[in-house]
Amino acid sequence: MLLDGRRANSCLVFAVAAEGREIRTVEDLAQEGALHPLQRAFLDRDGLQCGYCTPGQLCSAAGVLAEADRGWPSRVTEDVAAGIGSAADLDREEVAERMSGNLCRCGAYTGIVDAVLEAAGASPAEGGRE
Ligand code: FES
Repeated sequence: MLLDGRRANSCLVFAVAAEGREIRTVEDLAQEGALHPLQRAFLDRDGLQCGYCTPGQLCSAAGVLAEADRGWPSRVTEDVAAGIGSAADLDREEVAERMSGNLCRCGAYTGIVDAVLEAAGASPAEGGRE
């Protein structure tokens, strides 16, 4: 889920700690019947198999894009002090690192990374599935 716009594991947050805070779940991504760009990209890029992990993957991906747009670096950002320009500057390594807390027992990781890159408007990196 997104707690005040930041990624959080819903199973680890006490309800009282969320009181008065904005909670967004996967159900909040689509607006007025239109899929969120991440949801569309997950479908187009085979970013799921059984779908069990998909709500968490989508929420985390939405958080990743927002974090990148704020310039937040990750462990693999080349210049941590400078951060990253925007979500469009993400590459496969950055997306894989930033999404690494979300496990997929089906192993749909290649499609998930492709989908996040597509939704970010990032250039498909080498090894992507065009
Ligand atoms: Fe099955 Fe991720 S799609 S666990």
